[in-house]
Amino acid sequence: MKVLVVGGGGREHALCDAIAGSPLCTDLVCAPGNAGIAAVARCESVKPESTDAVVDLAVREKSDLVVVGPEAPLVAGLVDRLRANGIPAFGPTAAAAELEGSKAFMKDLCRRHNVPTARYGRFGDAASARAYAHDLGAPLVVKADGLAAGKGVILCNTLEEADDAIDSVMVRRDFGAAGDRVVVEERLSGPEASFFALVDGERALPLAAAQDYKAVGDGDTGPNTGGMGAFSPTPRVDAATEKRVMDEIIDPVVKGMAAEGRAFTGVLFAGLMLTEDGPKVLEFNVRFGDPECQVLLPRLADDILPVLAAAAEGGIESARLAWQDRAALTVVLAARGYPGAYDKGTVIEGVADAAALDDAAVYHAGTARDAEGNLVAAGGRVLNVTGLGPDLASARERAYAAVDTIRWPEGFCRRDIGAAG
Ligand code: AMP
Ligand code: GLY
Repeated sequence: MKVLVVGGGGREHALCDAIAGSPLCTDLVCAPGNAGIAAVARCESVKPESTDAVVDLAVREKSDLVVVGPEAPLVAGLVDRLRANGIPAFGPTAAAAELEGSKAFMKDLCRRHNVPTARYGRFGDAASARAYAHDLGAPLVVKADGLAAGKGVILCNTLEEADDAIDSVMVRRDFGAAGDRVVVEERLSGPEASFFALVDGERALPLAAAQDYKAVGDGDTGPNTGGMGAFSPTPRVDAATEKRVMDEIIDPVVKGMAAEGRAFTGVLFAGLMLTEDGPKVLEFNVRFGDPECQVLLPRLADDILPVLAAAAEGGIESARLAWQDRAALTVVLAARGYPGAYDKGTVIEGVADAAALDDAAVYHAGTARDAEGNLVAAGGRVLNVTGLGPDLASARERAYAAVDTIRWPEGFCRRDIGAAG
């Protein structure tokens, strides 16, 4: 099977590693990939957002399966275009990717199919949004409708903050076109977890739950990022909770999307709040989480490739995935300054030694080679260092042992990933 993976972060490195290890994979190309992915796949410098160029590449490579990592090309319709060219693709069509691309769509779909989520209103003008916020009362949450790169969600403690947040989205247009519409919703409380399932349009195969760390600093301080670490499994989602999540959230969404002519294929990633009334959806993503993928795939005991193909082409009900009885934890190494301004081009040493440690793996996120062949930082989040072990504490110990093998004075990481369980 000739496979093309689209993307160039740590998530795509984990995907490429898993796919390259499949006996079914005869050829693996990644667009654009990175310095770590280059060890397991042929990297082609094609941007994931350039739909035409990705489709041309897949046609030229005669790909049997294209696996799309990031959300932007999915929302832009890459999977529709690939399928129109007869190329099987893992990931949702543009119509199905609306689940992530529009929070108003996602909330309306939940309402239509009785999926538990926060009470909300959605608006195309600031005055109605403000009026609803004042009816609802503080605390509440204001969300820009469209994709805003993990930003665009504003937690408000007072109505003044809510008015300002609505202005930011709809009047000052701080999130651009993502703020054409706004969602105002009730603020829920409880522990959070992420849940992942593979979907073939009609049925879902549960994968696993994970916990991630969004804030940049230890103790959840500082601004939010794309994610500074993650672990899986999580004690927050036991077998009974997983069953509720499948029965009350994942299955009704999969059926609802199919019934509305937007059959969903790919990974459905639910961001959950585990409230006193049970699990409720905060958001859906239509792709693997980054860095959650870097703790899910290393725990698999089975070949992922046939299951990705089954999700893309139908038949997931006969697919099975066995898991290792191990925990995985990943720590993100980022360039100093991230998520603000940071330098690129600083040299990183010791990565091969870290990756060679027992029960450790290093996934590259933003890396490149300089003219001398040194590994250098090429992004904000630069490396994901994953440890594996019989339990969370030992996975954590392995991950930080590998982190401490890497020499990169211009980088930093959180020291408390997995520390509080
Ligand atoms: P989202 O991108 O929608 O997952 O939101 C990012 C973060 O904002 C979530 O991980 C939660 O911590 C928080 N959040 C989003 N919606 C709500 C809500 N309705 N109530 C409380 N917190 C929320
Ligand atoms: N780590 C959260 C995300 O991938 O959206």
